[in-house]
Amino acid sequence: MRRIDYDTEQYQDYARGRALTEQQLQAWISAFAGLLPERRPLAGLDVGSGTGRFTPALARAFGPVTGVEPSVRMREIAQAQSQHPGVRYVAGAAEDMPVPSGSADYALMFLSWHHVQDKPRAVRELARVLRPAGRLLLRSNFSDHIPPSGWWLEHFPRGFEVDASLFQPLHEVIAAFTSAGWRVTSFGTVTEPSSGTRGDTLQRLRLRTHSTFALFTPEELEAGFRRLEQAIAADPGAPAPVDPATLLTLERR
Ligand SMILES: C[S@@+](CC[C@H](N)C(=O)[O-])C[C@H]1O[C@@H](n2cnc3c(N)ncnc32)[C@H](O)[C@@H]1O
Repeated sequence: MRRIDYDTEQYQDYARGRALTEQQLQAWISAFAGLLPERRPLAGLDVGSGTGRFTPALARAFGPVTGVEPSVRMREIAQAQSQHPGVRYVAGAAEDMPVPSGSADYALMFLSWHHVQDKPRAVRELARVLRPAGRLLLRSNFSDHIPPSGWWLEHFPRGFEVDASLFQPLHEVIAAFTSAGWRVTSFGTVTEPSSGTRGDTLQRLRLRTHSTFALFTPEELEAGFRRLEQAIAADPGAPAPVDPATLLTLERR
């Protein structure tokens, strides 16, 4: 996929455009809790932590978390917004993390895997930083699981096709890990509560903090937003539809 540079794109609006309600955040934390060991504290890594949407909530639920994030601007926003004594943010990427070997019980990669340029290197680096039996919670879309999360995509010309082009098929992601000795512990979906009204969602989508928007032509963007506005105009106060989001969990042996 085209590399998205979060130091020049999206960073100003990401926190607003992709804000989660407290109920949505809790739905994710509960899902993660069901996939992680019960003991506390757990040492966590939030790899591609962005503006820290999840990092403080992970620290509250499980124990100290290091957010690893390559974009200076995204990290600055996280540092300014998401304060928690159990959270620290460091410069790094999935391929190269400034954290000791075998130091983490789990790593979360929430919509960051598809941005990783050198995936075999990231698989090795994730195995290095996790303890034996450490878990990777990999929230991603997969090109062979259509429709992906994003009910609004159907209004954009080639919407599903463009979105799918950002992601690998599930078997390819699984093979990248299992060929390096990992095992799959679960694959399922998490359904977040609604993010608010359809009108609210339209306002957030206009901020274009989804990488999919970078792949549409200007004409497709214009047509898509026009159709979406028309569809929403009938009932802007209706709750935004909810989409199941795919979550793959892998264990380092
Ligand atoms: C869609 S945002 C997700 C941020 C955060 N996980 C969230 O859910 O709000 C993708 C993030 O991945 C980061 N990223 C890009 N390349 C990366 C890499 N090689 N390793 C880790 N993160 C990366 C980006 O800088 C960006 O902050």
